[in-house]
Amino acid sequence: MNTPIHQQWSSRLAFILAAMGSAIGLGNIWKFPYITGDNGGGAFVLVYLICIFLIGFPIMVAEILIGRRTRKSPVGAMESLAQESNQSKHWKILGWMGIFAGFIILSYYSVIAGWTLSYIFRALGGVFTNLYQLFGQDTAQYTDAIVKVETSFLGNAEALLAWHTIFMVMTMVVVARGVKSGLETAVTTLMPLLFILMLFMLVYAFNSPGWEKGFHFMFNFRFEDLTWKSILAAMGQAFFTLSLGMGAIMVYGSYLPNKVSIINASFIVAFMDTLIAILAGLVIFPLVFTFGLETNSGPGLVFETLPTAFGQMQMGVLIGGIFFILLLFAAWTSAISLIEPAIAWLVENKGMSRVKASVLSGTITWFVGIATVLSFNLWGHIKYQNQNILDWLGFLTDKVMLPLGGLLIAIFVGWLVSTKITREELGFKDNHLIYILWLLSVRFIAPIAVLIIFIFGILSTFNLIG
Ligand code: TRP
Repeated sequence: MNTPIHQQWSSRLAFILAAMGSAIGLGNIWKFPYITGDNGGGAFVLVYLICIFLIGFPIMVAEILIGRRTRKSPVGAMESLAQESNQSKHWKILGWMGIFAGFIILSYYSVIAGWTLSYIFRALGGVFTNLYQLFGQDTAQYTDAIVKVETSFLGNAEALLAWHTIFMVMTMVVVARGVKSGLETAVTTLMPLLFILMLFMLVYAFNSPGWEKGFHFMFNFRFEDLTWKSILAAMGQAFFTLSLGMGAIMVYGSYLPNKVSIINASFIVAFMDTLIAILAGLVIFPLVFTFGLETNSGPGLVFETLPTAFGQMQMGVLIGGIFFILLLFAAWTSAISLIEPAIAWLVENKGMSRVKASVLSGTITWFVGIATVLSFNLWGHIKYQNQNILDWLGFLTDKVMLPLGGLLIAIFVGWLVSTKITREELGFKDNHLIYILWLLSVRFIAPIAVLIIFIFGILSTFNLIG
């Protein structure tokens, strides 16, 4: 038995909060509501829920299992477990893919998080409320004014870059401090706050006139809205929101004490992540309907539609401020998990201190993020199939790299790692029903579903099928 190089979580709760912190992020509060809006609501939500529990949850268990069995960074973990199972050590390439995907995702994630950060100050500074007082009599003029706040911010590359820089530094500071005093301290402080803020927002939305419409929008299943493209979007979102397919949850699993049940912990994490996404929808859509706004405004849903609502509601300064703080906390605890695989690898293989590893990885990510910053302004004209650089980065990660990573993880754990090892790690002495169901999923259901959705989704994205 090797002595582990890395620290471990101090308790089961610490791991659960950390994994929830990773899972609950911009994906739940910014992205889930807007893709639900763009894909027509209910039917999309249903497919998303199916993807979470049939595909995402079993793969989450698989990732944590690989991490805990080996206690290594994703690259080392894949290599060790492949060797233990007499498989090619080239499986470690999957670990490399994960680190690479982490850099790309965090590079744009941080820019959006920086955008959030700047909107905290706009909301608390009363910018939206003031615009309402100025232009409120004329709805069109008022909406225009709010959109102008957004476009002038996005048009300003220096401002975007500055906020992106601040957010990357915030992320680096946490990871540099290590698993216990960095990650664990951050999640145990921020996650409870996040839940309280969310509850507060929910009570507000529940009491707004648009509650019922918002609720129906989320839960009325209209199947005619479903296309392969939206099914792929639902699956991509399931991977993204559960932080799967790139080793983030794997590395968190590698810090997990032995006695904790992986299945139980994963279930709690997947459940809470789903709950928060649904609640975010139930906060946002009622407000959208209360003020007669559009549900399908894409990424702008949170940054233009919601501010339009904040500006004209009572206590809008407070509610708006709280909303963006909530979003920032969610993003912060996710960002640290996106960079952790790289940090773990550097510490493990290059003997670097966590501080050095954080500075190095953070700087690389920061640099890659410049492409996203510029995609909003100077490089905004660079488009392919009407999608800009940020859109393509999102497509490449959510809809290609994460599903592919997840598919390979499922095949690896389901078929190549012995059932003796997986049963041992999951704590089953015999073939318990839950174990059989899990195995069925990683062997057949998840790989087949991912492949079908992936192939048809890609064909439909490029308009090769309807
Ligand atoms: N799950 C986070 C969100 O919903 C983002 C995230 C964190 C992530 N770590 C990840 C996405 C790893 C994919 C892979 O915002």
